[in-house]
Amino acid sequence: ETVGWTAGDARKGVYSHFMRKEIDEQPTSLRQTIEGRIGDEAALDAFPPGALADVETVVFVACGTSYHAAMYGSVLLRRRGIFATAMRANEFAHDPTPLSDRTLVVAVTQSGETADTLASLRVANASPARTLAVTNVIGSSAAREADDAVFIRAGPEIGVAATKTFSSQVATLSLFANRLECDGAGIGTALGREEIGDRDTAVGLDASADRDTAANSDRSADSDAAEGTIAARRATDGGTVSDAMRALPDDVATVVADDGAARLAERYTDADSYFFIGRGVGYPVALEGALKFKEITYEHAEGFAAGELKHGPLALVTPSTVVVAVFTGRDDERTLHNVREAQSRGAPIVGVGPESATEVRDAVDQYLSFPDTDPELAGILANVHLQLLAYHAAEIRDRAIDKPRNLAKSVTVE
Ligand code: G6P
Repeated sequence: ETVGWTAGDARKGVYSHFMRKEIDEQPTSLRQTIEGRIGDEAALDAFPPGALADVETVVFVACGTSYHAAMYGSVLLRRRGIFATAMRANEFAHDPTPLSDRTLVVAVTQSGETADTLASLRVANASPARTLAVTNVIGSSAAREADDAVFIRAGPEIGVAATKTFSSQVATLSLFANRLECDGAGIGTALGREEIGDRDTAVGLDASADRDTAANSDRSADSDAAEGTIAARRATDGGTVSDAMRALPDDVATVVADDGAARLAERYTDADSYFFIGRGVGYPVALEGALKFKEITYEHAEGFAAGELKHGPLALVTPSTVVVAVFTGRDDERTLHNVREAQSRGAPIVGVGPESATEVRDAVDQYLSFPDTDPELAGILANVHLQLLAYHAAEIRDRAIDKPRNLAKSVTVE
């Protein structure tokens, strides 16, 4: 694997900010990320088919934006019947989860140099667990210290606020989740697999999902059975996750070209707070949207699990709270219900969701839409809108977008 970056990649050119340049680069960076890696038989760097068959549980460790990508990855794995959790590296390093030789600890870090994440990696390396670095930088400390490394191939990122690397991290973790699933990783008890089968049926997969998931309940399942499971789970109306992944760079290009956030940013400049809500993969995207917004606008922004609004945050919602709601095409009715809870307190609502979600579009005040895709990848497209929303809101406020106060691109102290 070579670096493949030219000096020109690290220059701003016609752009006034690296952040904007890096947002716009995402169709290209994503193409690099996924090239040659799509499909059940494709190897993912150190992992040819079968290499992850022994993994039972996955623990992600990461900080900041990388933590949100890790959370996103953990949702994708749990949906594939693999126990996975994401921990803040600064917590894990001093209070780790139990680790066995069937645990894979995945450090997600753009730079590969974040001290908290490296500290976590060292704790995991000293345990029986297997370790993996998912990073953008070849030769970084994380890549060298972990047992294995997978590179996100996003190219250099200069803006302190991470943008294109989040998209490439999530795309990589999605491919990684498929690799683990194909390899038959997971605890694989009949109960666990059957329950997943039931849930898949509930969201509209054909009935063979049940039979195939049951057939795959043995963790030494042969590849035919594994293929059956995957084929059944992916038999969604619009095609497969792989098809959606192939279309992702063009879909991101559509979002960037639309730049609907440019039309909205002026509208809500005098709000007290900005709340971002979402569920499933939309939850880490809500957290990431809020992080980006607070980092570069210095406005108060928080992300919440949509269903958690009623357990506390709703007390803060007034007509001066802008609620940005992320929709992915999965469980949207529930999120719409949460939107109505905020609407009845007078909050203006910005929805971000699939083009075809007309019910959502009709319910919200403003709608940022993206091309219909697999709900598992929809969060990446929603997030690009949120990157642009933060960018334009910061531009209006004349903030130091590429170098927000008190923050550094790479934090090398614990
Ligand atoms: C810093 C940066 C964040 C970044 C985090 C983790 O806090 O300001 O943008 O997400 O570090 O960095 P890493 O290189 O480990 O992904």
